[in-house]
Amino acid sequence: MRLGRLADDVELRNNLSRHLRDEAVHAWLWTKAIREMDGHIVEVDEPYQTLLGQHFGIPRSLDELLALTWVSERRGCEQYEEHLDVQDIPTVIRRTLRGILKDEIWHVSYINEELQRRALRDPRIQDVIDRALAADERTMAELADIAAVGQGTPSGAQA
Ligand SMILES: [Fe+2]
Repeated sequence: MRLGRLADDVELRNNLSRHLRDEAVHAWLWTKAIREMDGHIVEVDEPYQTLLGQHFGIPRSLDELLALTWVSERRGCEQYEEHLDVQDIPTVIRRTLRGILKDEIWHVSYINEELQRRALRDPRIQDVIDRALAADERTMAELADIAAVGQGTPSGAQA
């Protein structure tokens, strides 16, 4: 994969390979869970990814790819944790979420460590991280606005 080939050291390349394998396994776990529930797989919009890409722009370096992946994985973990907090989710969904979350936490942590290592060598990396964080914040604010409009209460509206 592109990200793996771009990696400039063996440990990072290994981690990225394991990461890509995890994501493929997660897709399979969801497929199994949906099947167990007699559900159907449908294509869905990914508004977070789309907006994040718009705000950050096309990543042009490994550092940018890592920073963008890191903010997005963090949000993924947050979302899985929120879902796990819901009391009455089916057992199969809870089990799948728990299994996946374990991997996702590792994704966030190895990318974070890698970015910190790179930032020590090159202070400009911190700017890339900050840009990714800003793109993520803008994305979340826009998604909150979209959700509020959907509920008829755009943010900034008078109560
Ligand atoms: Fe992940």
